[in-house]
Amino acid sequence: MWYITCHFCKETLRNSVKIICRTTSVAANANKSNELVLLGQKYGTDDWTNVTPNIIAKLGRNLHVQQYHPLSHLRQRIMNYFYGQFRNKSGTPSFSIYDNISPIVTVEQNFDSLLVPKDHPSRKKTDCYFINQDTLLRAHTTAHQAELIAMGLNNFLVIGDVYRRDEIDSTHYPIFHQIDAVRLRTSQEIFRDVKDSENLKLFEHRGIESVEKQACHSLEAVKIMEQEMKNTLTNLTKTLFGKDVQCRWVDQYFPFTHPSWELEILYNDNWLEILGCGIMRQEILHRAGAVDQIGWAFGLGLERLAMRLYNIPDIRLFWSNDAGFLNQFKVDNPNAHIQYKPVSIYPPCTNDISFWLPGEESYSSHDFYDIVREIGGDIIEQILLKDKFIHPKTKKTSHCYSIVYRHMERTLTQGEVNKIHEQVEKAAVAKLNVIIR
Ligand code: DAH
Repeated sequence: MWYITCHFCKETLRNSVKIICRTTSVAANANKSNELVLLGQKYGTDDWTNVTPNIIAKLGRNLHVQQYHPLSHLRQRIMNYFYGQFRNKSGTPSFSIYDNISPIVTVEQNFDSLLVPKDHPSRKKTDCYFINQDTLLRAHTTAHQAELIAMGLNNFLVIGDVYRRDEIDSTHYPIFHQIDAVRLRTSQEIFRDVKDSENLKLFEHRGIESVEKQACHSLEAVKIMEQEMKNTLTNLTKTLFGKDVQCRWVDQYFPFTHPSWELEILYNDNWLEILGCGIMRQEILHRAGAVDQIGWAFGLGLERLAMRLYNIPDIRLFWSNDAGFLNQFKVDNPNAHIQYKPVSIYPPCTNDISFWLPGEESYSSHDFYDIVREIGGDIIEQILLKDKFIHPKTKKTSHCYSIVYRHMERTLTQGEVNKIHEQVEKAAVAKLNVIIR
């Protein structure tokens, strides 16, 4: 989004296609009084409105906080890393976490507060989903930086859904999820561990901007911040991908940081960009009232990392409600090593079975699983123990299982699944002495 060089060539290509989509989409969304209701709020529409019904339908899904969702596991791993890495004197985590901020933001938040030039290509209608001229679906979680700093926060992570009009393929989807982080430090904090640091300062008067620093910063302050930031991020990468992962830093440009970098990792013999970061523009801090601090910040895309970590081949899978996908991530430990295995593209049928056990000791779920597999063979995709219940009076235990049936080569009919399910019930009664409820 921020690459000025390659942006323009992409732009000419995209304009022609997307303007057509916009006219139809707006008509479908806006009611007669030119209003849209999004996340319970009314918004006026105008000739900037280009948000589509498809996108609106996904507002509020919040995949990043859905229990057991791969994006949620990854979010927790990153949060845990920050909790573990940065603690106050009293031992409490320094970073506070915001994963619940509305994605509907103003142009001021998304661009102006971050010093994005008025003519920057990322502001274009062709790149963002606008609700109206002044309001859009955030294009990055960086949009909340300035307001959180103005609220007095010094260390925070913002996690959420972001929206960009981009190409559609296996690695691009118009909605994805980002984590942004900000860490502000005072002069005392950064020079505390430096010997003879009495004369060291955060700021320099009449300095000049160079590739290494902003005009107002001292080089020593920037270097200490840069080192802390780069160590934090390379260690995060090692925590996620293992200590042998190969990383490299590449200089980059962002309107809101200077100097700025991208971190790349070697993945399947290709260098893959995983995050952008830098020393925050002092003007952003100044406007937000943090006048005696210096800051580093970064932003990363969760899908890009999760696809590599879990071997997920297509970005659309994150939006799948399919049990064949979701159940592979149903683990309580977010650090569990999970490698996604593609499932059949044919639809599943899920039937439940509930029964009273003959007695806790004489029954094992594994026996039941074997019976089901024996009868259903390869069309059994998953068996889930959904519910356990002990009757308050009889003290008898009941189990409820969901059985997901799915054929790898064709669509199963509900009728044929019901027949197999009946056989499962009969076999369970005969072989396990259970009583169907
Ligand atoms: N917002 C940038 C993007 O979406 C990523 C980024 C870069 C975030 C540098 C930051 C930062 O907070 O300091 O591409």
